[in-house]
Amino acid sequence: MPTALITGGSAGLGLALTRALSERGWQLIVDGRDAERLRTATAGLPGVTAITGDVTDADHRRALIQAVPRAGLDLLVNNASTLGQLPLPRLSTADLTELDQAYRTNVFAALRLVQLVLPALNRTRGTVLNVSSDAAREPYAGWGGYGSSKAALDQLTAVLAVEEPDLACYAFDPGDMRTDLQQAAFAGADISDRPGPETVAPAVLALLDTRPSSGRYRAAEFVTA
Ligand SMILES: NC(=O)c1ccc[n+]([C@@H]2O[C@H](COP(=O)([O-])OP(=O)(O)OC[C@H]3O[C@@H](n4cnc5c(N)ncnc54)[C@H](OP(=O)(O)O)[C@@H]3O)[C@@H](O)[C@H]2O)c1
Repeated sequence: MPTALITGGSAGLGLALTRALSERGWQLIVDGRDAERLRTATAGLPGVTAITGDVTDADHRRALIQAVPRAGLDLLVNNASTLGQLPLPRLSTADLTELDQAYRTNVFAALRLVQLVLPALNRTRGTVLNVSSDAAREPYAGWGGYGSSKAALDQLTAVLAVEEPDLACYAFDPGDMRTDLQQAAFAGADISDRPGPETVAPAVLALLDTRPSSGRYRAAEFVTA
């Protein structure tokens, strides 16, 4: 059975994808910083190995890699992300320490995980799926820190695709979803009009099933029903 490593598998899109791939019989390695939330979210899901930790922590990344089977890894999903400073600041007042932390999570940890799993991915001619955002492309006021980190992730993905032609390398924009991250960005607002992350997981499955050329894709391009 194929194996995936999904960061941030205890909530939101990461959990929806973990559930969907578990249902398909995949072996899954997932993480999250809140141990209790991770345990509760993944309890009873077949094939899931849950490892508590922060993707910015090198020891935690090593623990994730140690869980990857010798046979190889079919899919890495760099999904764990932070918005950084809240409320989202204008660039004129952005705190660079918070921005540094956002880049550590959204960009550097993702790239380091790619580096660490490359041999395992090459064994299966596997897939890297880096979760992006429309904020990587659209200049929304307040989103310059987070958005630029996602733009950096997009470009890393594009270059990786050229350097590793045997792999499928995707930047994937899920669109707005009703999750904790979205609620944190729009504190106090009613976000019930956003679709749940479980509506986006089928788009990821369709992307994996069709394995288009490496590139940047939006969930909306893979509407299945
Ligand atoms: N929601 C949207 O509207 C939207 C739109 C565009 C793009 N996205 C992108 O979609 C992806 C998923 O977002 P989401 O909305 O599903 O987020 P979410 O509901 O807030 O879930 C984030 C998950 O990542 C984990 N996580 C966060 N920081 C982590 C870290 N440093 N190390 C390990 N795990 C960490 C969280 O658990 P812990 O907190 O316990 O660590 C949780 O499991 C992100 O890449 C986000 O940028 C979301």
